[in-house]
Amino acid sequence: MKYALIGCGRVSPNHITAALQNRLEIVALCDLLPEAIADLKQQFPELRTTKEYTDHREMLRAEKPELVAIATVSGTHAALAVDCIRAGCNVIIEKPIALSLADADLILAEAEKAGVKVCANHQNRFNPSVQAIRCAVEQGRFGKMYHATAQTRWNRPKAYYDQASWRGTWAQDGGCLMNQCIHNIDLLNWMLGGSPVSVTAVTDNLAHAYIEGEDLGLAIIRYANGAFGTVEGTVNTFGGNLEQMLCLFGETGSVEAGGTLNDVIRVWRFADAGPEEEAAMKQRFSTAAEHIYGCGHTPLYADMIEAVEQDRAPYVDGRAGRSALELVLAIYRASMTHAPVSLPLEAASTLDCMGLFCREPEE
Ligand SMILES: NC(=O)c1ccc[n+]([C@@H]2O[C@H](COP(=O)([O-])OP(=O)(O)OC[C@H]3O[C@@H](n4cnc5c(N)ncnc54)[C@H](O)[C@@H]3O)[C@@H](O)[C@H]2O)c1
Repeated sequence: MKYALIGCGRVSPNHITAALQNRLEIVALCDLLPEAIADLKQQFPELRTTKEYTDHREMLRAEKPELVAIATVSGTHAALAVDCIRAGCNVIIEKPIALSLADADLILAEAEKAGVKVCANHQNRFNPSVQAIRCAVEQGRFGKMYHATAQTRWNRPKAYYDQASWRGTWAQDGGCLMNQCIHNIDLLNWMLGGSPVSVTAVTDNLAHAYIEGEDLGLAIIRYANGAFGTVEGTVNTFGGNLEQMLCLFGETGSVEAGGTLNDVIRVWRFADAGPEEEAAMKQRFSTAAEHIYGCGHTPLYADMIEAVEQDRAPYVDGRAGRSALELVLAIYRASMTHAPVSLPLEAASTLDCMGLFCREPEE
């Protein structure tokens, strides 16, 4: 399958590794900055002769890839995805798939019209511990689900934001919920059935005066099935990244998963199993991933390739990406209006938050 990557920045090695491990034919690399392409090529000798483009439209015309991954600045995802889709390409879009519901809807509508697949790059859904938890949910082992929590306790210093001017801006990124925490928010939403009906939330910018977005978000979400979810997301933790936790509590089951990416099982208790199962799960999932990007890109690519070949929906489709986006936008709106917000939202964008944390300069 002919494959091209648009966006050759920090996350791009994960995409190339996934493409190579899935034996895709990598026909082109595209980035506005030739030096970003050169840097990526340096890391992968396999890319030595791969064609380079600074204009994605030219790349699409010349190479006609069947699958394109979009790993550019978040605010550019939608326009690039629509161009790829209109050129007949299937697309993997990095999270968040867009920064407004209108843009996400346009992506979905264009893909439907063109008959191509859209995959939202929420790769953590493929992590083995997350798959095990999801399996327990699908088997109904929690009974009636009461509540679940998603904590992302990370640190992003000024040097991170200084790497690129788009980071932390409302027009191109959003704050820590939209960028760093959306993975865990997606997992919470997915585990709780994906139909949030209302959100109460606060967000603030406590330690990053040089970015527009929030560096802390706290939310309570009520779901259509009666369950509740809470989100705690921050990039302020002293001493570096702490952990990402996902905990689920139901009538007949309790699970706590922490570590780097919910990959260390701390509690695994079900009414239909004895302590041996908990001990086995704790032993199987006792090691935290070394890197916060994890290893999910490769299975996500494998699934998308199969989805295209078998003409079925990808495991993490465009609607899943839209749903995570909508939930973050609902949290933003609840924080802005100081009132509960009902879902579904009619329209929303990160641009609605413009000026939210503008403060008078300190004396
Ligand atoms: N799934 C994950 O775990 C994960 C991890 C990191 C980043 N991301 C997401 O991936 C995206 C990229 O993040 P990053 O950290 O690699 O950013 P980055 O700033 O390091 O790289 C982005 C690259 O996109 C290029 N670009 C921008 N507009 C372009 C255009 N129109 N055409 C071609 N190239 C263009 C830039 O020149 C830059 O090289 C973001 O949306 C981010 O949220 C996902």
